[in-house]
Amino acid sequence: MTRRVSFPGSVTRPGRYQLQAETRAGSGKGLSPDQERENLGDLMSELNSLIGLGKVKKLVGEIKDYITIQQQRRDMGLLAEPLVLHMVFKGNPGTGKTTVARILGKAFARMGLLSKGHLTEVERADLVGEYIGHTALKTREMVKKALGGILFIDEAYSLARGGEKDFGKEAIDTLVKAMEDHKDDFVLILAGYRGEMEAFLRSNPGLKSRFPIHIEFPDYKIEELVDIAEQITRNRQYRLTPGAREKIRELLYENAGSGELVMGNARYIRNLVEAAIRKQAVRLAKAKVTTREALMALERQDIIEALEK
Ligand SMILES: Nc1ncnc2c1ncn2[C@@H]1O[C@H](COP(=O)(O)OP(=O)(O)O)[C@@H](O)[C@H]1O
Ligand SMILES: [Mg+2]
Repeated sequence: MTRRVSFPGSVTRPGRYQLQAETRAGSGKGLSPDQERENLGDLMSELNSLIGLGKVKKLVGEIKDYITIQQQRRDMGLLAEPLVLHMVFKGNPGTGKTTVARILGKAFARMGLLSKGHLTEVERADLVGEYIGHTALKTREMVKKALGGILFIDEAYSLARGGEKDFGKEAIDTLVKAMEDHKDDFVLILAGYRGEMEAFLRSNPGLKSRFPIHIEFPDYKIEELVDIAEQITRNRQYRLTPGAREKIRELLYENAGSGELVMGNARYIRNLVEAAIRKQAVRLAKAKVTTREALMALERQDIIEALEK
């Protein structure tokens, strides 16, 4: 199993969203409510166009409905739950965590819950410093960058790795304070491998209670990965020939048994497609072929060569 690749997971703690009628209408973009709804619709389509992720899509849909209804309750003078949107994303690398977080940030901005909606992705080294006080400084700087959007901490449990004396603890404390101080305009997402995330939260019960939303990102199935290859290719205005598609499928089935390299990992697929695009360029340049059809086609041979690199 290739579990230990150096991908970041993330741990985040958001603050509490006060629903404010004033902030609802605008994310500072001067859009009419109709335009905003349309925009939100676009974002939901973007989310839904991702391959697989059935449960993730369902949960995001629920969160969206919940926010909308709480806003309507508030507008009607009914008690509204404070919206706490800090989340934990659990899953292996390449399962779509960062991709989904980026869409969520934009969606929350459209809903008036965040003023900007940008994603700031960090890992331990961005937060933890080398001497006393340095960590708080670094962490606060990252929080500042993330204000108005989402701070996404990959492999969040690495903050707890060094034990009691480690500065990681200082980072956690600073984050907890930031969650309080900026509760209206800041969402924290902690991400990483499921087992590590759960152990981390178990050993930090105070932290756990601040993250009401947990989303699991399962590994992609082989057929989903083939569809992802197809989608990534299409988005770049290339086309997989049937032979190329078949080669990718074969490769995935071959590796499924060995537990090697793939692990339901969409990033691996993206890298493979990108490498195949380079191989296609070499092939075409040599053959001096420039028809539109040829410029678009990724052949079986391109995939095979991409695998050899
Ligand atoms: N469901 C999906 N459909 C299409 N592409 C995807 C999907 N999930 C991930 N990808 C692509 O795979 C790559 C890795 O995804 P990412 O969100 O960075 O994974 P993680 O953050 O879990 O490591 C990105 O290029 C992304 O566009
Ligand atoms: Mg990621």
